[in-house]
Parts: sequence; structure tokens; C-alpha cells
Amino acid sequence: MPIETTASVIAEVPGDAELLAVPYASDLAPAVELHLPVPDLLAHYEAKGEAGEIVEVPVARAGGVGRVLLYGVGDGSPRALRKAAAALTRKVKGRDTLTVVVPDGDVAVFAEAALLAAYSFKIGAVGKQPVRALVFAGADEAAVRRAAGVAGAVALARDLANTPASVKDPSWLAERAAEVGVPVEVWDEERLRADGFGGLLAVGKGSVRPPRLIKLSYTPAEPAERHVVLVGKGITFDSGGLSLKPTENMKTQKTDMAGGAVVIAVLGALAALKAPVRVTGLVAAAENMPSGTAQRPSDVITPYGGRTVEVLNTDAEGRLVLADALAYADAVLDPDAVVDIATLTGAITVALGRHVGAVYSSDDVLAKELVEAGQAADDRLWRMPLIEDYTPALESSIADLANVETGSTYGAGSITAALFLREFAGRRPWAHLDIAGVGRSTVDEGTLSKGATGFGVRVLLEWLTRA
Ligand code: BES
Ligand code: MN
Ligand code: ZN
Repeated sequence: MPIETTASVIAEVPGDAELLAVPYASDLAPAVELHLPVPDLLAHYEAKGEAGEIVEVPVARAGGVGRVLLYGVGDGSPRALRKAAAALTRKVKGRDTLTVVVPDGDVAVFAEAALLAAYSFKIGAVGKQPVRALVFAGADEAAVRRAAGVAGAVALARDLANTPASVKDPSWLAERAAEVGVPVEVWDEERLRADGFGGLLAVGKGSVRPPRLIKLSYTPAEPAERHVVLVGKGITFDSGGLSLKPTENMKTQKTDMAGGAVVIAVLGALAALKAPVRVTGLVAAAENMPSGTAQRPSDVITPYGGRTVEVLNTDAEGRLVLADALAYADAVLDPDAVVDIATLTGAITVALGRHVGAVYSSDDVLAKELVEAGQAADDRLWRMPLIEDYTPALESSIADLANVETGSTYGAGSITAALFLREFAGRRPWAHLDIAGVGRSTVDEGTLSKGATGFGVRVLLEWLTRA
């Protein structure tokens, strides 16, 4: 089960804390008498003050031995603070409470990274556990509250994506969405059929667990001018369908709803962070399975809005469910901007790797805002091009569009996928985040833990709270 790490703030540094972290630099010295020869200790251990460096000193405490962790903060930049904070919480995994004297600089960045690095997801584990509680001493309360709000949302997105698909199906995801504290509306199969959501129905056909469209609504306290729609891919398991994936590629695909998880987590965090925009979240949830009732390669389907799509590869299913949600947003919700987020293509991992996500956009301003928000929030995005010359890749001889390129004239799998989505997004400012590369981490490192990353939560919260 997920383990929760709590954050709190105290004004004074407790001199008797059993586990106390203190930054090195003398100008950052805490308002506490450590009774330690700090300069001598640092010299002895040849500490250079780099971010991530920690000198651990045992100290006498009532009833036993405590520890003081002297930690480096490098140049104090956000990047260095994140590294220092993550190193601290990783160092004390398994301990109860870590009291941290915060360094100078951006406390929200520091506290957020400390909390993210403490994340863990284990089912029925009794072994190594992360630090249970973090106490930030002498920190700005509002900054820590913001950090806890953001980190809590990232943890929720990670929990949802890490949950096995045996537990997690579209209706389970809808139940989780209903728990985040905003009004939620859910389309079941019958209603999806009545309203013409042909993409979700086609993808969900092979599974005994029917698809859902999940809508979450956030309205700020002050009336808002802007209305943003967030669309998330919610494939609770992507086997590929009849275009079955090989084992190696399939075993990660419980996280194919990571985009949907981000949308749910973001909607749940907006109120606490006082986001000044109206936000509607749409999660297009389905399980992509092969069976006697599954859609076949060569079937023609009709996503929301009436255009026809020839399904040449049932493993290109994300774009089919997103087509429904994007077309619905454009036709019914009247947004000022639409941003979708999806673990859409393996190809984007080839292009950008595992640390930078892709943003495609029809709108230069929107693209710039998202790239900047990503930079600030540490969910880095790189703008990718919607190459017009590649649009013929999606021509079908019998339908309005094909869901994949038939030959290999164009390649560029992530770009052609984005071009497919653009067909359904309408003429409004729209951006598409392909997070297939960054949605999962293969390592426990820094603020990342192995498994789902929650990538997208931080950039979207940064963008929506800046507005
Ligand atoms: N969910 C996958 C993409 C994916 C791959 C996410 C690896 C995370 C890790 C998506 O539905 C998919 O199967 N895409 C295909 C598209 C192809 C059939 C055109 C792909 O990338 O191979
Ligand atoms: Mn697929
Ligand atoms: Zn998929």
C-alpha cells in the first residue's frame, strides 16, 4: 500500500531532535546550538558543500544516540536545492521523523523535492520504508503548504498509475476520481453509446470491464475568465488488443493511464493551491484487450463528432479514446485552451528519452507557457513540431482517417500521432503532451522513484496557478 509522508512546519529548531538535518554554509547556520565542531567536521570529511553531499554525525541524545546530518546545498539554485533535499530524505529512509533546518532560497522547491523523494509504493511490504514525517524548521508556512499540495498530487498520480490492472479498471478509476473533492460526472457504456463516443467503445470492446468517460470540474472561488480543459489518456491496461504487444513491452502497460491519473490528481489539488482558472478534466478510460469481442485491425469506427477512422493497428488505441474526449471538449465545453496528456507513443522515448516530455501545440503562446512552466516546475518539456508534410501518413482509402501510417514513408510515430489528435481538437488553442518516455522511471533516483513518476502534475499545476 502507498505510504504517506506528512509535512509540517515548526518555528524553532528543537535542540534535542533525534534526527536533525542542517545545511553546511555558515551564513545558513540555524538558530540552534549544535554543540558540534562543524567546521572541523566538514574539513575532516573533506566536505565540499556540493548539493547531495551529507556528513552524518552521531550525537548524544537523552536515552541514546541521535544523528545530525550536515548537508550541502551547492550553489543554492532550484536544481541544487532539489538534489540536496532528495538526498536527505533518501538517506533517512526507514526513520520516523526528520527535522530539517531549511536552507536559504526557494523553500517550496526544497520541501517539494524532499517529499517527492520520500515516495514509496509497495503492496504488503514490511521491509524498507521511507521517512514517515518531515518537519521543516524555520520555514515559510505557505511555501511548505504549497509544496505539500503539489507533492501530494504527484503521489496520488503515482499511486493510481502504480496500482496493478487487476485492481484498476475504468470504473475503479472513476471511483478514485470521485474521491478528490470536486464534482465528478461519469459516462457508463450505455451513455457513451447514446452520446456517440465511438473511440472509447471500440477500444473497450475487447474487455469485460467496460470503458468510462470521467469528467471532473473545478471552479475557483473568484469567478474566472479562463476555462481550461485537461484531457487524459486513461488506458488502464494496454495489451495492444488484437495487435498484441510482445511480453517485454506489455508488462509496463498498467501505467498507460498515467495521463488520466495526472488529470485526476491536478483537479484534486487546484482548490488548495487557489488556482484562478476554471478547469474541466476529462479522463478517457478503457482497457485495451484482445478477445472475441475486440475490435479488429481494418475495422472502421466513428469517434465523437462523426468522422470515420480506419483502425489499422489496435495498439494505436490512445489516440482513439483521446479523439472522443478532444472532440467533445471542442463541441460542448467551450474552452479557451485544451491540453491533453498521454503515454501515447514509444517513438517519443527514442526522440527525447526518459527525462524530457514532448509538447506539441497549434499555438505558440500556449507552447511557450507550458515549456516555461515545465522548466520552473522541473517537469521538463521540449516542443516538437507538427510537420504538415506528414499529414498524408494518416490517409485512409475507405475512411476519413487511418489511425496509423500504413507504410513507412513518413515514420515519426510521435509526430503522426499528434497530427491525428489535432484533427479532433478543433481550432482552439490546443497542446498535446506525449509522456510515454517520462511517465515511468526505471530507477530510484533524486525526486523519482521506480515506477510511475506523476510527470505532468507539476507542470500543469505550475501553469494553472500562474495564470
Ligand atoms: N501505450 C502505448 C505507448 C507506450 C509505449 C507507452 C511504451 C509507454 C511505454 C501506445 O498505446 C502504443 O501502443 N503506441 C504504439 C503506436 C503504434 C502502434 C503506431 C507504439 O508506440 O508502438
Ligand atoms: Mn497501444
Ligand atoms: Zn497505449
